[in-house]
Amino acid sequence: MIGCILLTPLLLSSLAAAAPAATSAAPIYPSPSALSSAPGGAIQLDPTPIYNATTDFDYQSLQLGLHQEYIELDLFHYALTKFSDEEWDAEGIDAADRFLIQHMADQEVGHATVISNILGASAAKPCTYQYPFNTVREFVDFCQKLTRWGEAGVYGFLEHLQNRASANLVLQSITQEARQQMSFRQFEGLFPYPEWFTTGITQSMQWTLLAPYITSCPAENPHLNWTNLPALNITNDPTQTILSLNNTADISTNVSSVTAPGYEVHLVWDAPGKSVGPNASYATKTLAGAPQYAAWIAQLNVTYTELYNVLGNSAYTVQPNGTVFGPGSAAIVNGTQFILITDSNPYITPANMSYLDPHVVAGPAMYQAD
Ligand SMILES: *[C@@H]1O[C@H](CO)[C@@H](O)[C@H](O)[C@H]1NC(C)=O
Ligand SMILES: *[C@@H]1O[C@H](CO)[C@@H](O)[C@H](O)[C@H]1NC(C)=O
Ligand SMILES: *[C@@H]1O[C@H](CO)[C@@H](O)[C@H](O)[C@H]1NC(C)=O
Ligand SMILES: *[C@@H]1O[C@H](CO)[C@@H](O)[C@H](O)[C@H]1NC(C)=O
Ligand SMILES: *[C@@H]1O[C@H](CO)[C@@H](O)[C@H](O)[C@H]1NC(C)=O
Ligand SMILES: *[C@@H]1O[C@H](CO)[C@@H](O)[C@H](O)[C@H]1NC(C)=O
Ligand SMILES: *[C@@H]1O[C@H](CO)[C@@H](O)[C@H](O)[C@H]1NC(C)=O
Ligand SMILES: *[C@@H]1O[C@H](CO)[C@@H](O)[C@H](O)[C@H]1NC(C)=O
Ligand SMILES: *[C@@H]1O[C@H](CO)[C@@H](O)[C@H](O)[C@H]1NC(C)=O
Ligand SMILES: *[C@@H]1O[C@H](CO)[C@@H](O)[C@H](O)[C@H]1NC(C)=O
Repeated sequence: MIGCILLTPLLLSSLAAAAPAATSAAPIYPSPSALSSAPGGAIQLDPTPIYNATTDFDYQSLQLGLHQEYIELDLFHYALTKFSDEEWDAEGIDAADRFLIQHMADQEVGHATVISNILGASAAKPCTYQYPFNTVREFVDFCQKLTRWGEAGVYGFLEHLQNRASANLVLQSITQEARQQMSFRQFEGLFPYPEWFTTGITQSMQWTLLAPYITSCPAENPHLNWTNLPALNITNDPTQTILSLNNTADISTNVSSVTAPGYEVHLVWDAPGKSVGPNASYATKTLAGAPQYAAWIAQLNVTYTELYNVLGNSAYTVQPNGTVFGPGSAAIVNGTQFILITDSNPYITPANMSYLDPHVVAGPAMYQAD
């Protein structure tokens, strides 16, 4: 299915005034040294910040973020036209709730505009998309997953951007996306935010999840050079159990986890070399060796579990039992998170997640514990 593209160049330019310009007149704030008790040592506390992509890393990260904003814009509009009022109402999503989804689409126009302005003339243009849902409930579930990986992708790169001024604007966009993610969990009748910390993932992990839903892009769009990792699928995906609960929208519900520590998770993954993404012009790759672990990216760290019955590109693993700070604290596996196949188990913390990329055999897949 191809969604419609509503973000015209005219709309973009009419909204462009809302974003700071890349050049700036005389500073309107006093310099830090003029403030009576300003402590020293801040990064880029410039009186005249320049909002651009300073490095290749900045440029490629922001282009990726822009693709995410465009798909959300298309997706929300597409669903609002695809489903009838009766179909929405049956899921407890009434006219005011539908207006909230329309509002989210409008927010995406703003987010796409601000990132396009930072990137300038070579900013990616909107593409065409395909979606894996047929019902309102499946749409809502897809949205809470897609906004989760969009959010996690930005948390992964935000603190590594060279241009801190741009990071400021992206932060102010992603806080809205976090609210959208929460609302979609509520529309699905799930507990809105079970985790204590929202994890980050790397750009390649985000691009791996996003690219399959982009069918074609304008020829002038720049090529992204993040890695498309081989796809990972969960054959006994707990999502199916969640959908079959027939929950309707609610601010908060005591939905208990549909899986528990000890749950056997059956996994299959693609071999590298598959064409994916816009115009099938990207090929999946991995630098990793033989599959050895499942990596669970959630909360603050990466937890590994053994793979069993590894047979070609399939295996199973067992949902881990850890908590973030020991007994009485939050379970590592809770809410909407990520699972991958890796060739080893390097110790990874939030600020060095990129060092996991070369060890990824396949994935991520979204793991929906509740
Ligand atoms: C970012 O802006 C600065 C200041 O205007 C300029 O010197 C630099 O070339 C710009 N960088 C890019 C990649 O546009
Ligand atoms: C997930 O978090 C919710 C909210 O804190 C809690 O009620 C639930 O028991 C947690 N699930 C697990 C498996 O710990
Ligand atoms: C992708 O396909 C579309 C539709 O056929 C075409 O207009 C566009 O030029 C193609 N883009 C690239 C990068 O080849
Ligand atoms: C990524 O693409 C940029 C051009 O957009 C290029 O300069 C850079 O070398 C590429 N990096 C990798 C790792 O391919
Ligand atoms: C959910 O709805 C389906 C279709 O109406 C029904 O077959 C199923 O029993 C319901 N499940 C629960 C848990 O109520
Ligand atoms: C929701 O779950 C919590 C934690 O298990 C429990 O204390 C509370 O009584 C439950 N509330 C309802 C309405 O079931
Ligand atoms: C998980 O840990 C709890 C508390 O230590 C323990 O009671 C439970 O048996 C463990 N479950 C599994 C599946 O290991
Ligand atoms: C994983 O699921 C996708 C989407 O349904 C499918 O295209 C792909 O072939 C599956 N891969 C494997 C190894 O099952
Ligand atoms: C992540 O944290 C949990 C809880 O503290 C712990 O059980 C697990 O071993 C940690 N994983 C790594 C790889 O440090
Ligand atoms: C990641 O950072 C932690 C410290 O926060 C360090 O102990 C670990 O070795 C690093 N991992 C890699 C792969 O470098």
